[in-house]
This record gives sequence, structure tokens and C-alpha cells, in this order.
Amino acid sequence: MNKPKRYTITSALPYTNGPIHIGHLAGVYVPADIYARFLRLTGNDVVFIGGSDEHGVPITIKAKNEGVSPQDVVDKYHAIIKKSFEEFGISFDNYSRTSAKIHHETASEFFKTLYDKGAFIEETSEQLYDEQANQFLADRFVTGTCPKCGNEEAYGDQCEKCGTSLNATDLLNPKSALTGNVPTLKETKHWYLPLERYEDFLKEWILEGHKKDWKPNVYGQVKSWIDDGLRPRAVTRDLDWGIPVPVKGGEGKVLYVWFDAPIGYISSTKEWAARVGKDWEPYWKSDDTKLVHFIGKDNIVFHCIIFPAMLKSEGSFILPDNVPANEFLNLEGNKLSTSKNWAVWLPDYLLEFPNQQDVLRYALTANAPETKDNDFTWKDFQARNNNELVAIFGNFINRVVVLTNKYYEGLVPVPNELSPVDEETLAAVKAYPDVIASSIERYRFREAQQELMNLARLGNKYLADEEPWKVIKVDEERTKTIMYVALQIASALATLSEPFLPFSSAKLKSILCHSALDAESTWNDISSKNIFLPSGHKIGEAELLFSKIEDDTIQFQLDKLEASKKANETAKKVVEPQKETITFEDFAKLDIRVGTILEAEKMPKAKKLLVLKVDTGIDVRTIVSGIAESFSPEEVIGKRVTVLVNLAPRELRGVVSQGMILMTENVEGKLVFVNPDDVNVSNGLHIS
Ligand code: 2FM
Ligand code: ZN
Repeated sequence: MNKPKRYTITSALPYTNGPIHIGHLAGVYVPADIYARFLRLTGNDVVFIGGSDEHGVPITIKAKNEGVSPQDVVDKYHAIIKKSFEEFGISFDNYSRTSAKIHHETASEFFKTLYDKGAFIEETSEQLYDEQANQFLADRFVTGTCPKCGNEEAYGDQCEKCGTSLNATDLLNPKSALTGNVPTLKETKHWYLPLERYEDFLKEWILEGHKKDWKPNVYGQVKSWIDDGLRPRAVTRDLDWGIPVPVKGGEGKVLYVWFDAPIGYISSTKEWAARVGKDWEPYWKSDDTKLVHFIGKDNIVFHCIIFPAMLKSEGSFILPDNVPANEFLNLEGNKLSTSKNWAVWLPDYLLEFPNQQDVLRYALTANAPETKDNDFTWKDFQARNNNELVAIFGNFINRVVVLTNKYYEGLVPVPNELSPVDEETLAAVKAYPDVIASSIERYRFREAQQELMNLARLGNKYLADEEPWKVIKVDEERTKTIMYVALQIASALATLSEPFLPFSSAKLKSILCHSALDAESTWNDISSKNIFLPSGHKIGEAELLFSKIEDDTIQFQLDKLEASKKANETAKKVVEPQKETITFEDFAKLDIRVGTILEAEKMPKAKKLLVLKVDTGIDVRTIVSGIAESFSPEEVIGKRVTVLVNLAPRELRGVVSQGMILMTENVEGKLVFVNPDDVNVSNGLHIS
């Protein structure tokens, strides 16, 4: 499109069934924020929209599990998520929620418009039903085998493994997520959006119109869905949590969450416009508006096929110009998972790394899953901070500010004639706004941030080559020119870093006293002006922008993840079912006593066995025990143990074992002795 007059930028509305983690930030919100901040800095009319997705099955399930109402769940997490976004500098112009009145009205109206236009098919059909829970099973209420890829954990609306969008009845071997029961079939009426009617439109608009400018991962997914053939998609559900279906016959039913959620972008824009006294309509209905949806790859079908079909059918809305969906971020080699607590939660991060939001933003952008799934590791996070933010960016700024204060009491010096190197350096600085802009405009945020860091590298190299700390001893006038040039680079960094490192950019602007300038140089000014900090301007004292992260801080994070892994493994352990019931008489046959291990040695050529001499109180006997992989002989000598003494003797590798030491597992799955609770118990006493 020609240069747009305004931009509407949306970012996926997160489900309010938990806090948000680094995967959300890396995949959606940081790139969207970089884009929005950049567009504002370059003088564009922008609205950046966010909000909470408060309907849908995951929220109902969470409420059920916690014994609270869905409203309690969404109130709690809406507040937590909103706060996290504010704390991480995600600069939404409006952050709404889909439980807001304006959203219920907007979504109802949208549905009615489509209904009145005859855009839906009304159909009664057999749907999956859980007799025990007394409920229809759609979306995440049902799991089963994906008919396309064979994933046994596919949901009723989507297979997360292959990305296929499903209807619940497509699943093979369906199972209720509420009770584990095999569902039955029961008739119910629903409204369907016949996606096949939009096939020609989608082919022309995306497959022909956006082949070149949409990311290959997005284009590829859309093409494969269209090639597979589109089918009607139910847009209503038999649930009691959601937006009531606003037409006759819809009593007791609600809108499908993926019907109402994207309309949330429109209602949030309306809410914003009313608050700031603007008209919302041009942001959604004017051809000179550029609409961009930032989402994760699991949302592609909804934003590239279903929502556009809804918008097209309604008729008065524009379509997205681009949907730069990201792939997924993994954590230390494993898929991020809320249920397995395999995540870095934003509230936790801020408690453990106070005021270090930019470090996380930086590390996530440097590793953003733009073209393929990517991995976040704590070691990489540490290296990005220590080797790049501290050693390059922070170090350059610190040297410039410290030396300016030392040599000139903080005043920007008057330069003398610029040398060819100075001229080349300033010319290089002036090229950066366009270079960075070109990457951002193509949604290549990693590349854009690398270019920003190259500007800091340029500054570092300039200082290292020109060595003002040496030149000052022999040529004060030349030193002034060097420091003048270095200060211009520092000032350009303050401006150009804002989309990526908003907190550090603000801090740097404050150190350089940008607010005292007659006119602060904008992003665009940097390309056209030579001077961003004029001679005589006074800057402030040095303050560290970034500080080194030590190994023990990183180890703490790794240990936390290790603990999650262990907890998961324990939870996963299958508890053996109880054996057949025995009588008291059977039990009374066991002669269990307390003993002490007197000697212990490894059984030759047997990895698992220790040969023990045990004082049972009645005698000292040999017992062969399979504990050698968990305990060394030295460890067990002197241990008081519980012994079954009347077990029939058994020969093991030529040694007769006369009894059994009782063992069990602790919560971490480690083998431990059944503790006879030492102190007051004598050897040989019965345990009963
Ligand atoms: O995947 C999700 O977390 C959804 N709640 C995203 C919704 S995006 C939009 F359409 F609102
Ligand atoms: Zn699949």
C-alpha cells in the first residue's frame, strides 16, 4: 500500500487463566511494542491495541479446578497481566478486556449484522456430550487423536502439534477433559460460518496478493489450509460463560470465543477513541489505514482465515495488511508449558531482576523466534547482558559521560575541524535511522536490534581508535573534537534505542539532559542533522545503564527449573494400584524387627547388591540387599533398619540371604530406609 495515513496495531489478547511468560513477550508483545514505538517516533498516527481474552474453555476449566467462578479467575489474571505489560513497557494505547460492556455490545452487534445478512448456516447436528458432566464438549473440553498428524493430545478446536484447526467431532478416540469419559453424541443447534464461501476471496487476497510480503511461515500455513479445503465452522457454543447468542433460538448458548476475541480489537479501539476524544472508525474502516496483527503461530488460522472472512462478510471493515506471526520460543531446550511450570513468569522475573526489564526485552529480541522456533537459555541471557549490553552499549556511554564530566565539567565541548575519520563516523551515524527502520518495517526485529548494537560498537571503536584519554595529555583541542563526536553518537543511541530498550533510553536521555535541549532530535532528524547535542549543552553525571549478571544468579534460575523438572517427574510417576486385600492373620505372619547394619560390602560383579551383616536382636545374619546403586557400604554401616526376619532364605550369587531390609521411596523418588525411629527402640523389637 502507499504510505498509510494511520496504523492500527493489534497484539493477541491473552487468555486470563494465568500470568504471562517470556514466550508471550518474545512472540507477540515485544515485537508489537518495538513496531508501535518506532512508528510513533517517526511521526505516525498509531493506535496500539491490547486487552484480555476473558471467555473460552481454558478459563472455565481453571475456575472449575480452583472451585471459584470464571469471573474470579478473569478478574485476578486481568489485573496481573495488565500490570506485567505496564512493568515491561508494552506501550498499549488501550488495554481492554472482553468482559467489558462495550465489547459485549460490539460483538453482539457484529453477530447480528452477519446473521441479518444470511452469512451463517443454522444447523442441528450431533455433537460430543459428557453425560456425567451434563455438558457438550467442544474446544478444550475434549481431547483426542488428530486425524491429520496422529497427535494423541489434540484439542477439540485445534491440534497444537500440526496446527490444524479442528471441529470436536473430527477427533479420533475423543475423551472428555472434565471426567475422562468417552463422550456420547447429542443433538444441538448451532450457527456456522461457511468458510468455503470465502475460498476465492482468500485465494485472491492472500495467495495472490500477499505472496511476497507475508512471512513464509504464515503464508505457508494459510496456503495449506486453503489447499486442504475450507469447511463450515461453528461460531456458537453450548456454554454458560461467554457472550450470549443475540438471536432467536440462541438462548443458553454463547458466541464461540474465537468469534468474539478478535472483535475485541475493535471494541478496545472504540474504548480508546472515546477516552481520548477521537473517532474510532477511520482506524478500522479507512483504506489508508494499515492494520497489522501481532500473534503467535497457533493463532494464524484465526487471524488469516476466520477473522478476515468475518470482516469481509460484515463489509465495512479493512483487512490486515500483514500478520507477522512468530514461531514458538522454547526454554532450555523444552517447550514452554504452563501446566508443567516450565516457564519464566514475568512477575517472578521482575522480583528476581528488579529494574532489568530491558535486559529481558533485549535477550528475547536477540533470540526472537521470527523464522523458526528458538530457544531461550539463561546462559545466553547472561552473555547478552554481560557481553553486549554491559560491555558494548553501557561501556561506551559510561566512558563518554565520565570523560565529559572529567574534562569539561559536563559541558559539550566546542569542536575544532573534523578529521576524515570524524566525518566518516558522523556520516555512518546518520545512516542508522534508515537502516534500523528498514528492518523494522519488514518485521525483522532481531536484525534491527543488531543494527542498533552496531551503532554502539561504532562508538566504542571510535573511542578505542581515537583514545581521548591519551590525546588529552598532548592535544587538548583535538580531544574536544573527539569528545564532541562521541557525544553525538551517545545522543543518537539514546533516541534510536527507545523502541528496543525503552527504560535505558529514558535513563540515557536523562543523563544526557535531552529535556533541556531547545529541540530534541527526533529519529528522522538524526539522518538530516549533524548535531544532536550542541556545544555548551550540559549533561548529567554518569550512572550505570546495565550491570553485570553473576554466575550464581543464573545458577539460581537453572536450579529453579531443575526443581520444576523434578516435581513434574514425581507427579508423572505411576502409583501402583493396591494389591489384593490380605487378612490380619496373613499380616501377623510377618516377623518384622528393628536391626542394625554391622558390616557392608559390595557383592562382586553385581552392580545392585550389597552383602550386609545385620544384628537383628535375635542373631547376626547375612542379608543381601539391592540398594548398592543408592548407597555405598560406608554409608549404611551403623544404620538402624527395619527387617523382615522370617522371609524364606534365598540364595543370591552363592550367598544365602536371610531376610529383607524394608525400603521405600521419598517424595523425590529417592530410595530410603523405612525408618524405625531410632532413639527408643531396641534391636529385635517387633514392629506392629
Ligand atoms: O491464543 C490465545 O491466547 C488467544 N487468547 C488469543 C486471542 S487473539 C484475539 F483474537 F483476540
Ligand atoms: Zn495434528
